[in-house]
Amino acid sequence: MRSPRHILVTGGAGFIGSNYLLHCVSKHPETHFVNLDALTYAGNLENLQAVEHAENYTFEQGDITDVDRVRQLFNEYAFDAVVHFAAESHVDRSIADPTSFVRTNVDGTLVLLQVARQFWDDSTINGIFHHVSTDEVFGSLGATGQFTLDTPYAPRSPYAASKAAADHLVRAFGETYDFPFVITNTTNNYGPYQFPEKLIPLVISNVRAGKPIPIYGKGDNVRDWLFVTDHCVALDKVLRMGQPGATYLIGGSQEVSNLELVYALLDLYDEHTGNQAKSSRSLITFVTDRPGHDFRYALDSSITEKEMDWKPAHDLRTGLKATLQWYLNNESWLDNVLSEQYRTYYDAQYSDR
Ligand code: NAD
Ligand code: TYD
Repeated sequence: MRSPRHILVTGGAGFIGSNYLLHCVSKHPETHFVNLDALTYAGNLENLQAVEHAENYTFEQGDITDVDRVRQLFNEYAFDAVVHFAAESHVDRSIADPTSFVRTNVDGTLVLLQVARQFWDDSTINGIFHHVSTDEVFGSLGATGQFTLDTPYAPRSPYAASKAAADHLVRAFGETYDFPFVITNTTNNYGPYQFPEKLIPLVISNVRAGKPIPIYGKGDNVRDWLFVTDHCVALDKVLRMGQPGATYLIGGSQEVSNLELVYALLDLYDEHTGNQAKSSRSLITFVTDRPGHDFRYALDSSITEKEMDWKPAHDLRTGLKATLQWYLNNESWLDNVLSEQYRTYYDAQYSDR
């Protein structure tokens, strides 16, 4: 069991990173968490209000591709662990323009690997580098089967290709330099603080505003959904208990087609707001499919569940209920991230969906 004392968390102002910090900062008061985030359109310090004054938490604005900045932080804080979330993470944006995906997800990961390797080689610190990755590196499944640790990589979107490249670099550092790492590949996360360009918060945001809900193609693509805090519990365990050089698959075992998922969410919304049952389904609009749209993802998490003594605590229904409740209780968060001012400040380059 390792107990890192000074953890560099990259991308901690994004969706999963902020949930991870909210989970870990109070749970591990003996550990100092330093959050390095560039605050792109997807990063939001409002997510971290509950920990911003904690003694064991520090925010550092910066870009992971900036080698001098990353080196300076290693020299200042002497990290013995890196938990690497920072990424461009939205498939549709990667289709529109892959450039920033390669820059952050590939070049940025390489910078972190090089600085961490040099720093740990030059010191007596036994470090660990945890790369947070995705099931999309394995490509697309048909109607049956699951991705396992033996599944060859076959990424099909620029986003997935950039994450696959990062995974390969991490493993190559392990093989070539005996660099200590763990990789986790997870499936679609959902829950509080997810930017409303991803399916679930987009549906909640649009139904609230009475706007059309775009479903790509026929809505028969299948995803496996994992509630974000369940993911964060697993990540915390893997950092502490994971074997160096190992990969852990973290799935939710909650597969559903996009259309079924959207129906379930809209029906919960109608139930919650006292609308006529199923009336919000009328907002669904079928739109042109995403190019190269992966049909299905599913992960075999059995090894992770056994070795980490972990299971997701939420099934899809309880997770969706909690998520819907959170967004409806935090409408100002949604309004803020969707506001002109926010978007202009954080994201000059993408037009509104
Ligand atoms: P996100 O887009 O919500 O957040 C990304 C964070 O990284 C933001 O805070 C952003 O400001 C920061 N960032 C981006 N570029 C940066 C740079 N160059 N330097 C420093 N910071 C930068 O992403 P997320 O959904 O929280 O995903 C976190 C990680 O988990 C990513 O690596 C993603 O590939 C992986 N992942 C996500 C999911 C999911 O369902 N969300 C599923 C599988 C894997
Ligand atoms: P998304 O949340 O973008 O995650 P990912 O592409 O990583 O799986 O999309 C989830 C699924 O929902 C995916 O099959 C694409 C589909 N989708 C829609 O049908 N409409 C939308 O507006 C969005 C954003 C996604």
